[in-house]
Amino acid sequence: MIKKIGVLTSGGDAPGMNAAISAVVKSAISKGIEPYVVREGYKGLINKWIEKVDLSFASDIIARGGTVIGSARFPEFKEESVRKVAVENLKEMGIEALVVIGGDGSYQGAEKLTNLGINCIGLPGTIDNDIVSSDYTIGFDTALNTVVRSIDQIRDTMQSHSRCCVVEIMGNGCGDLTLYGSIATGAEVFSTKESFLTEDQICEQVTMLAKAGRRSVIVAVAEQLYDSHALAKKIEKASGYVTRATVLGHIQRGGSPTAMDRYLAINAGIFAVEKLVEGKGGLYIGMSENKLVARDINSTLNMPKPDKTEEYEKTKKINLSI
Ligand code: ADP
Ligand code: F6P
Repeated sequence: MIKKIGVLTSGGDAPGMNAAISAVVKSAISKGIEPYVVREGYKGLINKWIEKVDLSFASDIIARGGTVIGSARFPEFKEESVRKVAVENLKEMGIEALVVIGGDGSYQGAEKLTNLGINCIGLPGTIDNDIVSSDYTIGFDTALNTVVRSIDQIRDTMQSHSRCCVVEIMGNGCGDLTLYGSIATGAEVFSTKESFLTEDQICEQVTMLAKAGRRSVIVAVAEQLYDSHALAKKIEKASGYVTRATVLGHIQRGGSPTAMDRYLAINAGIFAVEKLVEGKGGLYIGMSENKLVARDINSTLNMPKPDKTEEYEKTKKINLSI
């Protein structure tokens, strides 16, 4: 039976990470295992920023956004010589197993650490919802609610002034925050990498709405596809709407996690500790058809993305109808 478990958060932070940390710490203690936190992701493993924690540490962090143990991007971890230092440091402290909360980049580090003798279990912590083998990731629901609240508020003022607004949404190549946000707010026009519209197509659609007498228009776009402010100018010229642009940015990553994110985070944290106690490693925990699943990290990295074309097409059609 393992005696010590570590937990770290890696990559971009996400609301719900603290709830997962709390569950890992509490589960470990309930099984007589000593819990340790590693500060600043994989960087903390190299620098021995590792400390033992107790129940009081875990008791009041569930509702807090961000990650109280810090997260970092640490590209050096891709080098085996660096990972070996991490393993030596963990072994020196008697820590035999780790829970890694992060996205698919962090999973790759977890898989490689497992191959070097430290069993690791990955938990899907990212607002992007881009872990293909999990229906939802920890942080997605909170970020989505922030997106929806923001678009609703932008809609109020666009409606008052009969304007159009381009709203740029995060996702790092995954359009889920934009798609779900557009469904939930009725954004008239939306574009993501998976269902892309050229700038000219966007202008045509907004112009069509202007001609039909639509009072306000929301154009929701996934980040990294356009210069949103330049796009707003182009739309204004084509459609006649006074057009503004709002880049939602990091507001989407903060805030107290929603109940659904806490629910997923806490259950996944408990499940991860169970798997480590069984002596398993190289697995990630996901939510599939409303059930927690533990699968090989390798299998998730190679899984095809779920095809949401039908959802895109149906929503685009009803949101654009005049
Ligand atoms: P996310 O986990 O959110 O996808 P990143 O892709 O930035 O975020 O990865 C987070 C961290 O995971 C990286 O900074 C690095 O420390 C580690 N990592 C990413 N890819 C690998 C890899 N191929 N091998 C080992 N470690 C990796
Ligand atoms: O992965 C989470 C995420 O917020 C992405 O949506 C976004 O592209 C990226 O991180 C932003 O990273 P940074 O905080 O380094 O600007």
